[in-house]
Amino acid sequence: MAAEPTPQDRLIFALDVPDLASAVHHIKTLGGSVGCFKVGLELFTRAGPEAVRAVHDHSDAGVFLDLKLHDIPATVQRAVHAAREHKVRFLTVHCSGGERMLEAALKATGPDLQLLGVTVLTSMKSNDLDPALGYTDGLTVHELVMDRMLMSRDVGLTGFVCSAEEVEDIKKQSGGPILTVVPGIRPADKTVLQDDQSRVATPTRAIELGADYLVVGRPIRDAKDPKDAAARIVDEIAHALKA
Ligand code: C5P
Repeated sequence: MAAEPTPQDRLIFALDVPDLASAVHHIKTLGGSVGCFKVGLELFTRAGPEAVRAVHDHSDAGVFLDLKLHDIPATVQRAVHAAREHKVRFLTVHCSGGERMLEAALKATGPDLQLLGVTVLTSMKSNDLDPALGYTDGLTVHELVMDRMLMSRDVGLTGFVCSAEEVEDIKKQSGGPILTVVPGIRPADKTVLQDDQSRVATPTRAIELGADYLVVGRPIRDAKDPKDAAARIVDEIAHALKA
């Protein structure tokens, strides 16, 4: 059985920075404080696989490649295959891509790579599920998360990105071991200017609800002392795990 992740392993820092030099700066500063660095759309579009290599070259942390793949099955399968060459621990695909796309993604994965299904973005709330966009009238985000999780789990996906609010139900309804990775984390003493996140929780609350990994970007990146901000979150995770 795999060892339990430590509080530090559970913290994923989102490298939401505009260029490789800033990424390297953050990797060097936070390398000993977080379990993983998340390379997302902004950095990958600018720096490509160099950004992933920078994490491997300057830290012992893992890489979470957050490409949120959503395309025809063959393209997604080939993209997952390509991502494995970069030795990444986590890779995201959109659950809304449907069964055939997820099956294709799973075909290309392996024991070294955990695929994570993005259920519903944490920036979305029930009001955003406009029937004009094809959503059933009255559908809530919570219901949509559960529907997508169950469909994806039946295909074989065992990891999900969701908000803290859905973790308990996902674990209850999935009927097997499921990994949850939770963004939208906001420490109680930190506010984010012009925040676009809707379904948010403190690190303590997310861990209490059963989250396995927490994704934190701006509350660390924009802190006066990012290393201290990360250390405080790791402490909070450790406390919550003991409670
Ligand atoms: O700055 P903040 O802590 O809001 O960063 C959250 C990170 O998690 C961003 O990089 C965002 O792309 C990512 N994310 C998310 N919601 C998802 C999946 C990923 O916020 N459902």
